[in-house]
Amino acid sequence: MIAIYPGSFDPLTNGHLDLIERGARIFDELVVAILHNPGKTPLFSVEERLEMLRECTVGRTNVRVESFEGLLVDYARQSKAQVVLRGVRAVSDYEYELQMAWMNRQLDSTLETVFMMPAGAYPYLSSKLVREIASLGGAISGMVPPSVEERLRVRLGASPLAQKK
Ligand code: PNS
Repeated sequence: MIAIYPGSFDPLTNGHLDLIERGARIFDELVVAILHNPGKTPLFSVEERLEMLRECTVGRTNVRVESFEGLLVDYARQSKAQVVLRGVRAVSDYEYELQMAWMNRQLDSTLETVFMMPAGAYPYLSSKLVREIASLGGAISGMVPPSVEERLRVRLGASPLAQKK
């Protein structure tokens, strides 16, 4: 069974990686797909996000990292995926996720959305907060892989506070 794990991944967090690991254990093939969220202006280009994801999933033989411009349901059809995998952290995610799952079902009734919980360490971790903390010089180690932390430092600059930690 092929599953797509779609998202903005701007940037990839340890919560995303946890979900990738869980998904890769359950599905025969997991396609991690960077798709466009019209509600977000990304910090990293699609190319940079592809690089980050590929660096951090290297060696995972049933995980493929791709990007797609367009509807998730079209990409799922093209990839022959039967499942969309999404992570649900706290209750606050639920409404947004349910709305997307329902819409995707309207667009393609053969596509199932499967929700998984990330590990207990990551219920409140989000790319948005990681970007905000990094931009204000806070420590983000443990929230993102070291290579992503370095890219954030280069992109946002190291503040005196970040150097202290
Ligand atoms: O990580 P995000 O930003 O929560 O992921 C949202 C994403 C990219 C999965 C969603 O915006 C999406 O599926 N974009 C592709 C366009 C599409 O299919 N939109 C209709 C969604 S119901």
